[in-house]
Amino acid sequence: MNFRSDNVGAVAPEIMAALEAANHGPAASYGDDEHSARLNDSFSRLFETPVTVFPVSTGTVANALSLAAMLDPWGGVFCHELSHIHVAEGNATEGFTAGAKLLALPGDNFRIHAPALQAALQTAGWGIRNRAQPQAVSITQASEFGTLYQLDDIAAIGEAAKSRGLRLHMDGARFANALSALNTTPAEMTWRRGVDILSFGATKNGAMSADAIVVFDKTLVEPLSYRLRRAGQTWSKMRFAAAQLEAYVADNLYIRLAARANALAKRLAAGLSTVPGVTPIAPVEANLLFLQMPPALTDALAAGGVKLGRRDAGVVRLVTRFDGPEADVDGLLALARAA
Ligand SMILES: Cc1ncc(COP(=O)(O)O)c(C=O)c1O
Repeated sequence: MNFRSDNVGAVAPEIMAALEAANHGPAASYGDDEHSARLNDSFSRLFETPVTVFPVSTGTVANALSLAAMLDPWGGVFCHELSHIHVAEGNATEGFTAGAKLLALPGDNFRIHAPALQAALQTAGWGIRNRAQPQAVSITQASEFGTLYQLDDIAAIGEAAKSRGLRLHMDGARFANALSALNTTPAEMTWRRGVDILSFGATKNGAMSADAIVVFDKTLVEPLSYRLRRAGQTWSKMRFAAAQLEAYVADNLYIRLAARANALAKRLAAGLSTVPGVTPIAPVEANLLFLQMPPALTDALAAGGVKLGRRDAGVVRLVTRFDGPEADVDGLLALARAA
């Protein structure tokens, strides 16, 4: 019963099949192969606008390089105080930008909010050489705590950013989970609401270490392409990453996989809501549950074979995934009720 992360999941069979199909004979290297050539077209159809797609190996590098393409070393990027780029990426953004500053904002339900962003923009110290100069905003959809930005929230943040010439980045490590939960389209959740560049996660939802950067703002393509090469992200055997990403979005596979993960989270949340002493600390809107629970209950779950994430102050993180067995959800619930 492994609920520690969606990274513990397997590779989706459809993606394995795509890898197998691509695994024949030689293919041109460094993105000159037929799969990579098709990728921009298939993602442009998916996003209903011309986009440039760069496969990358991790979500961290997708975030750091996306932001590096937009930020000067003296620049600043607004983000939530608990965002992955701020607390869980080993200063990758600071490193790849050669020193840009993360400007952390508080915000309930683990999201930043347009009024707070507007207020911060007013006191940002524009033109003062002692201060980081804001150049970007980064939001995470679905957030690190499984909460969602509604489309209007994204639009409001996009407008606030644009009003001062800032670009908007979206960390979509769980993009498909958010899209499925909001029942909207990739275009509506991104560029139509002001997103300029997207870290498009696939690994947590069935790919084999293949994420991507999707670029909407064409002026970012060239600076990004040099940074990718410099960071060792221009894959020699690019066909295998491209083939996975093609399969991931074909026939809405990515949505079907995410919908399953989200449904398991809902089932788990509904079951746990009847267990005394268990309180969610964030609404369960995607595939992550953050719950306050008595340590004795957490211990009983762990002793019963449930792998989970323990946080400070009795908070537990449970993550569901596309290949998580329903029996595991029911097994966890049975243990919780017994305890
Ligand atoms: C919201 C978010 N962004 C980015 C990442 C980074 O992904 P990776 O571990 O592939 O670098 C993660 C991984 O947990 C994440 O949860």
